[in-house]
Amino acid sequence: MKTLIKNISSLVGILPEGKLRLQGEEMDHVGEIKDAFLLIENGLIKSFGRGEDLPGRLCADKTIDAERGMVMPCWCDSHTHLVYAGSREGEFLDKIKGLSYEQIAQNGGGILNSADLLHNTPEDELYSQSMERVNEVIRKGTGALEIKSGYGLRTEDELKMLRVIRRIKETTPAIIRSTFLGAHAVGRGLTKEEYVSLVCEEMIPAVAKENLADFIDVFCDKGFFTPEDTGRILEKGAEYGIRPKIHANELDVSGGVQVGVKYDALSVDHLERTTDEETAVLKGRDTMPTMLPGSSFFLGIPFGRAKDFIREGLGIALASDYNPGSSPSGDMRMVMALGCIRMRLTPSQAFNACTINSAYAMGVSHLTGSVTPGKKANLIVTLPGRSLASIPYMYTTPFIKTILLSGEEIS
Ligand code: NIG
Ligand code: FE
Repeated sequence: MKTLIKNISSLVGILPEGKLRLQGEEMDHVGEIKDAFLLIENGLIKSFGRGEDLPGRLCADKTIDAERGMVMPCWCDSHTHLVYAGSREGEFLDKIKGLSYEQIAQNGGGILNSADLLHNTPEDELYSQSMERVNEVIRKGTGALEIKSGYGLRTEDELKMLRVIRRIKETTPAIIRSTFLGAHAVGRGLTKEEYVSLVCEEMIPAVAKENLADFIDVFCDKGFFTPEDTGRILEKGAEYGIRPKIHANELDVSGGVQVGVKYDALSVDHLERTTDEETAVLKGRDTMPTMLPGSSFFLGIPFGRAKDFIREGLGIALASDYNPGSSPSGDMRMVMALGCIRMRLTPSQAFNACTINSAYAMGVSHLTGSVTPGKKANLIVTLPGRSLASIPYMYTTPFIKTILLSGEEIS
């Protein structure tokens, strides 16, 4: 099956094969061909070039006229918690009245509230609520998603979440990766020590037995889990060959970056509060610092020092953190806009952070995140007259004409 996209005003996000992430000044550039065509074969990007070089005798099974819109890779969202039950609108009111994220959690709300709701929701119902969110973000242009557990906090409920993620993986055309986040909060009725033991001795072996997790995560932050707890959990994960992705430095300078790097985390995420020590330990490592401007915006906490990280030669990824407590939105276009407007990233830097680097941060940048021959044809065709900068600039104006996942148009 061959699909031709013709009449493209600008094909953006072009990268050579084998370029799996961008760092430092590399983030300032976006590979582009103006007046382009792109050919898809069997769901993969086959070739592309200038429209005038389009072979005259090319016979495609299907032709899409981009009508002078741009074509870009789909967003990649390397950090979400979109499998959850119900919502936390009640806490939204507490937040408006002035309670902080920590105060809401201490009053028995927060993650524990979501865990209670999830416990009482049957697996099929959890799947359909979650699929609604998956379909919502696909229609907004996301083509790859990482999804975490962490609202179970009991072995059976963590497994229930991870099975729902596996079912999403099997039923959606988007690329899905799953992360076991048993250490998201201490489950009800247990001390922290008891809970960490439960995670290590019961949950991790059970998750590994069913091969339910691509990654393991810990909320390493003030009031949740310490770097010592985190080390213990990651050590256990490593016994089963599960690589970490860590929540760190959202509520405090937590030591989470250091412990993440020590255990070769693929990414360390949040990073709203960092010192020069964090940038220093990340240099020369394979760990992708990932920032979540949607939670900074929603919680009214600092935005990460993305510019400083890039100036130091590091790459950064941006992700949505889609979850009911700190970021009830999975809109990656909004994430790009917050990257530009609040973190002062250039459109090129924010675009690279939301595509190739976010793909890297979920271990799929060999499959997606750029326009590269052999990668999946996960592409956004924009409405006519759009530029890369217009996407975060006119940040609520519709910009998508059509979306392709593995070369198939999404209706
Ligand atoms: O990434 N920080 C920890 N976990 C989520 C929030 C989870 C929740 O409040 O439900 C986050 O912000
Ligand atoms: Fe998170």
